[in-house]
Amino acid sequence: MAHENDAERMKDGAPAQPACLVGGLGMDRPFHIRRLGHFGMDVEDVELSREFYARNFGFRVADPIDFGPRLPAEERADFPQTTGYFMRHGADHHSFVIFPRKLRMRLLPHYNKRTTINQITWQVGSLREVAEGFRWLDARGVKIARSGRDNPGSNWHAYPLDPDGHTNEIYYGIEQIGWDGFSKPAGMHRRDYHTTPALPHRSEYAEVMEGLAHDVDVTSGTRGEEPLEEVHDVSGVLLGRPFKVTKIGPVRIFVEDVARSVDFYTRVMGLRLTEEIVWNGHRCAFLRANVEHHSLALYPLALRAQLGLSPDTTLFSIGVQVADYQQLKDALVFLSGRNTQIRKLPPELFPGVDYTAFAVDPDGRLVQLYYYMETIGWDGRPRPPELRPRIDNDDWPAYVPAQSDAFCGETFMGPWS
Ligand SMILES: [Fe+2]
Repeated sequence: MAHENDAERMKDGAPAQPACLVGGLGMDRPFHIRRLGHFGMDVEDVELSREFYARNFGFRVADPIDFGPRLPAEERADFPQTTGYFMRHGADHHSFVIFPRKLRMRLLPHYNKRTTINQITWQVGSLREVAEGFRWLDARGVKIARSGRDNPGSNWHAYPLDPDGHTNEIYYGIEQIGWDGFSKPAGMHRRDYHTTPALPHRSEYAEVMEGLAHDVDVTSGTRGEEPLEEVHDVSGVLLGRPFKVTKIGPVRIFVEDVARSVDFYTRVMGLRLTEEIVWNGHRCAFLRANVEHHSLALYPLALRAQLGLSPDTTLFSIGVQVADYQQLKDALVFLSGRNTQIRKLPPELFPGVDYTAFAVDPDGRLVQLYYYMETIGWDGRPRPPELRPRIDNDDWPAYVPAQSDAFCGETFMGPWS
């Protein structure tokens, strides 16, 4: 952890020269992950999945992306689905991404067939952190799939791969979608970037001014629609479903070697190890980016079959946090009523979370619903297990006592719809 290293440097009474400076703070690497920003997966039937996630979870399409033109013309008939979807639950242009798996396997020469995860994406603090982070990772032999800037989404990025070949991404500056719900029009993307730019780069404001000067129609972007009738009273607001996804994550993945992955995600990526458990002889590790108990959980591959999960992917689950416990319970009733299978798994596998259940998506992937995540303070210590509530998955209570850190952590900004 960074503060331990800082303490090490102070041993002789004066701070030694730090390895890197991030905004004037001495750190071990030139970037610092602030939060899990988005998550993406490749799916078998992208239209079915889009419908599933839009209707059941309220993710709205921020922009489609058509990969079809990247195919040789003579192959296009072999791929009925060529469109992927950037989806969002809040103002970030995308927090959840689904791409057509079959097409991506064809287009990407080094496609990782062991997983359906297409990105685990981390927000850093500045464009400089992305640019210097790219060079720092590259210099350490970390394989980087690509770097540059995403259109749509406008975020600057670099894509390092983890030891199992999972694509991670560090980014700065994702597009924010405002009150009118329109994404940035294609005409505002003034140029493409296929590597990190020379710094300093002009601001977003300057880019938008240039687009406006070229008479770009600001309402020509995509405006995702609510597919359901808004009939549910959700704490005083009528919504299409009786809950609101207020945060994405944690991401749970299976890895070949938990110790090797912990080393990568802490030493290279800079996440902090919050807690490790041993469950049925399996070591599992929980890492955080900010004050949340974990945003990334690592489980050994050997556990996958024991949990009855598909051998087709290293994805255990993607989490969606809802606003409160009542919404969590209402969400399970709602999803069950829409023919969505709900699973409950041993709570010991999810330290830092109390009541939680999993919805099964059209590909059999698990979407973890929960409302509470323990928060971690300056000293990095999680709550002792004996002070955590006991979870009886067969008998969820009508209400729960508020923990000392109830409603702490990342706050959802803006209205729920
Ligand atoms: Fe991304």
